[in-house]
Amino acid sequence: MAKNKTPQELRSARWFAPDDLRAFGHRSRAMQMGYAPEEWKDRPVIAILNTWSDAQPCHMHFKSRVDDVKRGILMAGGFPMELPALSLSESFLKPTTMLYRNLLAMDAEELLRGHPVDGVVLMGGCDKTTPALLLGATSMGLPAIYLPAGPMLRGNWKGKTLGSGSDAWKYWDERRAGKISAKDWVDVEAGIARSYGTCMTMGTASTMTAIAESLGMTLPGASSIPAADAGHIRMSSESGRRIVEMVWEDLTPQKIQTRPAFENAITVAMAMGCSTNAIIHLIAQARRAGHDIGLDDFETASRKVPVIANVRPSGDSYLMEDFFYAGGLPGLMSRIRDHLHLDCMTVTGRTLGDNIASAEVYNDDVIRTVANPIYAEGALAVLKGNLAPDGCVIKPSACEPRFLKHSGPALVFDDYPSMKRAIDDPDLDVTADHVLILRNAGPQGGPGMPEWGMLPIPTRLVKQGVRDMVRLSDARMSGTSYGACILHVAPEAYIGGPLALVKNGDRITLDVAARSIHLDVPEAELAKRRAEWQPPETRYERGYGWMFTRHIRQANEGCDFDFLETGFGGPVGEPAIY
Ligand code: FES
Repeated sequence: MAKNKTPQELRSARWFAPDDLRAFGHRSRAMQMGYAPEEWKDRPVIAILNTWSDAQPCHMHFKSRVDDVKRGILMAGGFPMELPALSLSESFLKPTTMLYRNLLAMDAEELLRGHPVDGVVLMGGCDKTTPALLLGATSMGLPAIYLPAGPMLRGNWKGKTLGSGSDAWKYWDERRAGKISAKDWVDVEAGIARSYGTCMTMGTASTMTAIAESLGMTLPGASSIPAADAGHIRMSSESGRRIVEMVWEDLTPQKIQTRPAFENAITVAMAMGCSTNAIIHLIAQARRAGHDIGLDDFETASRKVPVIANVRPSGDSYLMEDFFYAGGLPGLMSRIRDHLHLDCMTVTGRTLGDNIASAEVYNDDVIRTVANPIYAEGALAVLKGNLAPDGCVIKPSACEPRFLKHSGPALVFDDYPSMKRAIDDPDLDVTADHVLILRNAGPQGGPGMPEWGMLPIPTRLVKQGVRDMVRLSDARMSGTSYGACILHVAPEAYIGGPLALVKNGDRITLDVAARSIHLDVPEAELAKRRAEWQPPETRYERGYGWMFTRHIRQANEGCDFDFLETGFGGPVGEPAIY
């Protein structure tokens, strides 16, 4: 380990070292907690941002796992300081966790800024916690290592494997079609989430933790280890040991999160069959790190890297546990090494190339070769046209191929409640060729861009056996969702984007190969509708929501707050200590 700092140069020394009244208070209060000076003096103080809470099932194990992190920190000569952070449970928090991603990012940044810490272990995993913690830590700039919660074990029901989210939607359609009983439904509820850990499909959680690893922000292989595996405990302790070394080495996120590192993350995301949410979070993260990554970077990667992770929902049968046994993310990266910048630095102090030098794949059906992919092009495609001038996104690998080129009449819903009512109407005037539209569900309209983009198939059509149709919205969708869902339409309808102008019966044409989406209405008619358009009523008159709606960026810009972006103003200094 290179020692690039003296104990006197540690940031925490500003709090503990001076011979003045304030430092007396800091030392005295540390002793109030039972710590002798020998335990912190001249040692890196390591923050552990822990997103455990009683409302966060995916992070249940963090309550005890934090002790393993502390063990590692102490063993390496550091002093651990656990700081609870907002837990953002994807299942329980309403109206949507995306409303609060930036709040956790601010929480993380300011917790680090205000406390006497030299480096940080970020404990997250459930969807928004990964990008939020990384956004905050990137802006603060202290040495940081990400500790992914790890996927939960495979679900099981009557001997059948169940996957988070994907099988919930699937069996809900079966229940609506009257094909499974109420008792079966309860058994599916009990069997689909069998252990602590994050969703074990290739949803947003698995996507974002894989992105953290491919960016170089986790230990090699960390994102694939199941939460309930003893290897996860060992990885936690090792993360604690390593962060202490990183502080001495002064290995900061800026040295790791270069533009090529973000290109690696996008490439890996495509090969994983990633969640559509990856786009929003990675754009925000890159901008925090000072790089102008946009939709075009995803489009470029999508054209050159196939989907090789055979994990649901893009894959047909396997889950993250299988992916781990097959070699995990290092195995996958070894298969696409020709597309990666192998000289990127990582938290290990070695390059990505070094980290995956001995990686292997143990099951060629779970982690395919590039020559035998599960989908020939990347997971996501960016469409543009008069309906989405700033772009929208589809996941072609998870929808029926016949919808990749489609033209159909629009059936428009202005909000979720009216859509929900209509969907169950047995007399709803809808065919399988219709394009279902939900609008006012974007960053400001949702608010917070909820995961409503996989609109339910109308019950009438479900009973006829229809299981997929084209759906279009300015919302997001869960990474565990699937189907011909076109998402993130920008600009959103709530601020007067073209989606606001669509009327029932208008024809919409999409062509994924040509990356186009078109509202087949003459421009003169659209101009008339635009002039008549009235903005919807204001969502929030006060509080956090008020701030959110005034500062949130659009989906193609990463949904960060404008004032949190790195280019917004000069750097924030260290806190005064007087
Ligand atoms: Fe937490 Fe899916 S609900 S990862």
